[in-house]
Amino acid sequence: MDRIKSKVAIVTGGANGIGRAICELFAEEGAWVLIADIEEAGGKEVVAAIRAKGGEAEFCRTDVSNPADVQRAVAMAAAHNGRIDILCNNAAYLSPDFHAALESTDEEWRRCIDVALLGTHSLTKATLPYMIDQQQGSIVNIVSIQGMEGMMTSAAYTATKAALLGYAMSVSYDYGLQNIRINSLCPGPIQTRISADPNDPHLRWQCDQTTLGRVGYPKEVAWAALFLASDEASFITGVTLPVDGGWTSSSARKRV
Ligand SMILES: NC(=O)c1ccc[n+]([C@@H]2O[C@H](COP(=O)([O-])OP(=O)(O)OC[C@H]3O[C@@H](n4cnc5c(N)ncnc54)[C@H](O)[C@@H]3O)[C@@H](O)[C@H]2O)c1
Repeated sequence: MDRIKSKVAIVTGGANGIGRAICELFAEEGAWVLIADIEEAGGKEVVAAIRAKGGEAEFCRTDVSNPADVQRAVAMAAAHNGRIDILCNNAAYLSPDFHAALESTDEEWRRCIDVALLGTHSLTKATLPYMIDQQQGSIVNIVSIQGMEGMMTSAAYTATKAALLGYAMSVSYDYGLQNIRINSLCPGPIQTRISADPNDPHLRWQCDQTTLGRVGYPKEVAWAALFLASDEASFITGVTLPVDGGWTSSSARKRV
């Protein structure tokens, strides 16, 4: 309890999955949370769930690829008490139908870049002035192990996620002296609505790629995000932290 008490946090893509778990945990730990998502019903449901447990949250319908939406969301968060302490860039364009380079369409590339990369930049750019004034802030980007290694038929998604790692390193360099930290969390396979069906052989394959032999849960990513967002991580910036059950650190895949 209270690990980020009274801090103001913005979480993009907070209506579902990993983002929802992050919103709920941040609120449990004392933050005032702005849920910025394109899904209004889901976002309002998360607000209600947080308030039912005594937490504080608001929803702002936000398409992170729309600069006007981003300005509105950041203004709404700042209206709470003038501060923005934590930004969690989690929203991404997720398609069940990503492609290899040859088959990938311009539309797929544009949507990946507009939502995950430019959306993250837009939110970061709109939030940094508050953090600079405060001389304090923590930005946590939800990336993917697909930013760290290649995987099948997802050139645009993988390229966008890899670019986010470079973005965090650059921003951490430029704003470190203002005590603004920015870190990248790289989830492995996490059970959300985008996950493979329980009977899909792809799920077994994913489990076999981890040393823990299973997929992860949204809360397991949220715990890592909470740590990086909190003052407990006050000397940590510019890092890439896999939350992947050992996928990237081992040769587990060679078992199969
Ligand atoms: N689930 C996994 O296995 C996994 C693995 C690695 C990385 N990730 C990353 O974690 C993040 C969350 O994924 P998830 O599995 O929870 O997916 P999800 O679909 O459950 O949640 C994504 C949320 O983002 C919102 N969103 C989509 N486009 C948006 C936009 N333009 N503006 C604002 N909100 C938008 C959706 O409405 C949704 O609420 C993504 O960045 C994804 O790339 C997920």
